[in-house]
Parts: sequence; structure tokens; C-alpha cells
Amino acid sequence: MPSREYAKLTTPSPLSATRSQPPGAVRTIAVTGGKGGVGKTNVSANMAVALAGMGKRTLLLDADLGLANIDVILGLQPKFTLADLVAGRCTLEQVIIEGPNGVLVVPAASGRRHMAELAPAEHVGLVNVFSELERELDVMVVDTAAGITDGVLTFCQAAQDTVVVVCDEPASITDAYALIKVLSRERGIDRIQVVANMVRDQNEGRVLYEKLSRVCEKFLADVSLNYLGCVPQDDWLRLSVQRQQPVVKAYPSSPAALAINEIARRTARWQAPTEPRGGVEFFLERILRQRGVVV
Ligand SMILES: Nc1ncnc2c1ncn2[C@@H]1O[C@H](COP(=O)(O)OP(=O)(O)OP(=O)(O)O)[C@@H](O)[C@H]1O
Ligand SMILES: [Mg+2]
Repeated sequence: MPSREYAKLTTPSPLSATRSQPPGAVRTIAVTGGKGGVGKTNVSANMAVALAGMGKRTLLLDADLGLANIDVILGLQPKFTLADLVAGRCTLEQVIIEGPNGVLVVPAASGRRHMAELAPAEHVGLVNVFSELERELDVMVVDTAAGITDGVLTFCQAAQDTVVVVCDEPASITDAYALIKVLSRERGIDRIQVVANMVRDQNEGRVLYEKLSRVCEKFLADVSLNYLGCVPQDDWLRLSVQRQQPVVKAYPSSPAALAINEIARRTARWQAPTEPRGGVEFFLERILRQRGVVV
């Protein structure tokens, strides 16, 4: 029999009834990039661990529903995943595990095709489930899948900030542009944060950002880009992936760790959301409003 959580996935309960958190300002940050393998998972996981290390109550959500790997890169062995939640085998609290620096992690299952193919309403429902989270949070970081599927777009749309990870390869730049275009034209996103990953030096990062920014300025009038910083190509990061530890913990003085810490510090300085509620439930409300549903 489906659990209470599963029922909520498919039939979101009235919003007024789901607001269990006191009004707070949870900043939700979706990390995306269009192209596969550009470093979305490493940037999001390390950013979340770094934020947790700064004392921010941080939740890291693995929203790569088909090929999840946050648990793998953080060396965690989850008992349950989002797939169990969807199947009604556990509660949300049972899915959450603690990672490095006390970051709360919601792992997804890898290799479950039905998870990758959730219907749009189920993505919304998934987001809604988090509205009943009893814990108070400051930040929620969402690692998304590659591509511009409905799921990816929905998670970005629901977040307050979207971080696009890009590397200096033609395919990454064109994919990032395509993603920003769809986010802007179809999902009404007007502000994008950019992280240049695997760069040789700071200058390459800045030049890469300017390349992307110029093409967006020319063709997408309604979206503004902001440069959040760059992460160098760093063998310490590669090694940390092999060791299944976040680089900010395994090699804290490596160039990649220092860069990601700086990026995390910048996001921590962002002003609290101006909306009256910043809670995770804000996710769903925003989606519904975008779709013309009065809430
Ligand atoms: N700054 C970096 N320096 C060196 N290697 C890196 C860096 N960033 C990423 N990598 C390498 O690229 C690999 C892929 O990174 P990651 O899994 O974070 O990408 P992704 O965008 O999440 O991929 P996917 O699209 O498959 O989800 C890592 O395992 C690592 O080996
Ligand atoms: Mg990934």
C-alpha cells in the first residue's frame, strides 16, 4: 500500500496544509550545466559540504534521478533512496543521511529508469514532499542531471538560484547556452550564476564566462548572467573522487578545494530570499504560480 509520502508525490496536498516549517529563509540552489561530465556533482557536493562547514544548515538533494551518484562521491552507503520514498518503502526522514561536516544528504537511486522518467506532476510532488521536513535549513543544494529534460528544468525553476557549470569546450558552451535559453524562455528564469570548471587559471575562467555571457546578451534579452567563480582543473579533485571523499575535506588546501570554498563563501553572502517564505515548500508554490495556478 502506498505510504503517506507516496500519496503526496502524486496528489500534492493543499499548500496551506503542508507548511510545517516556520517562515524561514531557505536558499535553494540548483546546480546544472546541460552537458554531461562538466562537474555538476562535484561542484554541488563540495559546495554543500563547504557550506555545512561554515555552519550553514545544508541539505544536498541528488536530483539526478537516473544516474545518481552523490552518495558514491561522498562515500556514503544509504539504506534508502528517493526510489524507496517514491515506492512507499520509507519516509523522508529515513532517506536523509548525514555526510561530511554534517551536511544532510538525500540520495537518489542509480539505474532506475522509472525514476528518470517521472512525470512532471511527480517532480512537483517530489519537491512537495520536502515541505514536511521537520528540520530547519539555511541552504538546499540540488544536483541535477545532464540535459534539458523536464525534470532538470523543473528543479531549476523551483530553486531561487541556478548555477550553470560550464567548461571550456565548444559542446559545453553550446549546451550551457541551450539550457539557459530554455530556462529563460520556457521557465521564466531571469538570473543565472555561472561557474567555470576545469580551467587552467583564473583568466581562462573569466574569458570563458565572458564568451557565454556575450552570446546570452546578444540573443537572450531577458536573462542576466553573474560570474560566481572558477574551479581549476585539479588532480587532487580527481583523486578525491577515487577516494570517495569531497575534495574540500580530503585535500582542503588543494586549488580545487580553495576555489570551491570561495564559491561557497560567495553564495553564503547572498542576501536572504526576499520572498516572505523561503522554505522548501516555496519550491512548489513557485512552480504552480508559473503555471497559472492560484495558490
Ligand atoms: N575541477 C576538476 N578538476 C579535475 N577533474 C575534474 C574537475 N571537475 C570534474 N572533474 C572530473 O570530471 C568527472 C565528472 O565530474 P562530475 O561527476 O562532477 O560531473 P557531472 O557534470 O556531475 O557529470 P554527469 O553529467 O554525469 O552527472 C569527475 O569524476 C572528475 O574526475
Ligand atoms: Mg552528476
